Amino acid sequence: MSTTMFRRLPVEHATGRLYGGRHRLRVVYRTRDLIVLGLGVMIGAGIFKISGEQAATTAGPAVIASFLIAGAVCLLAALSYAELSSIIPVAGSAYSFSYVAFGEVWAWVVGWALILELLLAASVVARAWSLYATQALADFGVPVPSRLAGIIGQEKGFDLFALGILLLLILMLATGSRMSLKSLWFMVTAKLIVIGLVIATGLKFFSPGNLTPFVPPAREAPEDSRSVLDALLGAVGGGAPEVFGIWGIFAAAPAIAFAYIGFDLIATASEETDDAPRKVPRGMLASLLIAVVLYVGVAVAMVGMVSYGDRGTSTPLLADAFELVGADSMGKIIDVGAVLGLTTVILVVLISLTRVVFSMSRDGLLPRPIAGMSRYRVPSRATLVAGGAAVVMSQTVDVLTLEQMVVIGTLFAFLFVAASVLALRRDQPDLHRPFRVPAAPLTAIVTILATGWLMLNLKVQTWGYFTIWMAAGLVVYLVYGRRRSELRALLEAPPPERPVAAPMAPAPPPGAVPFPGAWGAPPPDPHRVPPPDTPYPTGRYSSAPRPPDRRDDSGAFSPAPYEPAPRPPRPDEEWPPQQGGGRHRR
Ligand code: ALA
Repeated sequence: MSTTMFRRLPVEHATGRLYGGRHRLRVVYRTRDLIVLGLGVMIGAGIFKISGEQAATTAGPAVIASFLIAGAVCLLAALSYAELSSIIPVAGSAYSFSYVAFGEVWAWVVGWALILELLLAASVVARAWSLYATQALADFGVPVPSRLAGIIGQEKGFDLFALGILLLLILMLATGSRMSLKSLWFMVTAKLIVIGLVIATGLKFFSPGNLTPFVPPAREAPEDSRSVLDALLGAVGGGAPEVFGIWGIFAAAPAIAFAYIGFDLIATASEETDDAPRKVPRGMLASLLIAVVLYVGVAVAMVGMVSYGDRGTSTPLLADAFELVGADSMGKIIDVGAVLGLTTVILVVLISLTRVVFSMSRDGLLPRPIAGMSRYRVPSRATLVAGGAAVVMSQTVDVLTLEQMVVIGTLFAFLFVAASVLALRRDQPDLHRPFRVPAAPLTAIVTILATGWLMLNLKVQTWGYFTIWMAAGLVVYLVYGRRRSELRALLEAPPPERPVAAPMAPAPPPGAVPFPGAWGAPPPDPHRVPPPDTPYPTGRYSSAPRPPDRRDDSGAFSPAPYEPAPRPPRPDEEWPPQQGGGRHRR
């Protein structure tokens, strides 16, 4: 393999030579927008659908502990994301961090995993949106024409609602994110009200008896739910895999991690955030902490209302739990809340997907024309390409069975992000880090171990599909990205013309007092431009030609003004310097 595949992107190239010089996206987000963005993408199918499924099939009431475990791992990962986004605040997120820390091929691998995560997340949630929207229509007795009956609310095959919601959001995004930001605020507020009602109403029906046994006795796991860890333990000890029991808590945690997916996507909004190195870490950590508190609240309310431990393999969703206790109207409110909630999830996932595709195209690893900007200063082409792929996937693949693929893509990126913190602390310790992971490197190492543990709890089938996806990605890189990489072009370009150095001055006679820059004086900083009123250096050994001194009419002496010689280029700088921006400015 060529060593050029491991070429690393210098930090200043990732962020732009002048700070912000690489920014071509419109700055729209403040800290509170980022929190809304995070909650917009986190609160969705994970809490409305997967929480109930996992309580009923894998963990029982102890699903509360699964929420805490998954939340703790995500908080650890968020610290690493926060440090790296404070150093490299760019749209590519984990992809760009890996480019700087490990080099191009690893960046590609992470970017490819992010594309999997986001493409599938958009498709899965669009299908779930269709199910909830159809249910909401039924809840409110809205008549559905018989022609539509077989093409809405479908779990697989063609689905008009899933197609419609994706097309609507793609069009919105392609025509400017300001409109989508306003819609986002409205829908997230509505979703938070619903979550608040869920917790308040759930606690009204709370019965402590439903929490016992908190950890239901272990029982044999169904064949199709076996994890890699089960396979490994089975190979070593020969025992049959189990659900419920203590291991059930851990087995449910990665599925529950689906509910937290989204805090990481805030990093992809860095190029659209004012003062991103400070605001992105704040927005990310604040939104994740709020989500952990809300989710644990919902989980307590849900398992306190209905006895999940006794329900065997039935899978009551959150709305069903309310119907089981007779709070039918709450079930309807949840269906409407889910429709709004899932809309914002799809919206933010699509935003992030397009930013990752945009970054990879801008770097030449995907076709560069995809990084083209529209007159709204949004990456419209990336939106249309990535959105189109999500549409095709949602209509042709049985995506509702592939939720774990979203999780494995995300956890894979977590691994690289935590490892990037370690690598950059070692290789570039002097980088300015507005946010630092506390107790690093220990925290980053624990993050890697905890993430790896969650990954081992994912299904064997998920690992199989993931391996196929990554292998296909590697082929695409070898065939296309490796040759078209912009970093490769930059590194392999002929050396730029540089100004000819001034001839060296002759050696001073013994005892001569050196002036700055002469032999015997400390070496000058060639990049420092003296202020205009600096006196002209005097002395026999100045190598620069000296302009004549002047005398005014009264005969007063006035020394020649100092005119510094042209500044030599820095080693990483294009020459001659370009006006107003870095290499990506057009
Ligand atoms: N966290 C998002 C959801 O639960 C992906 O839908």
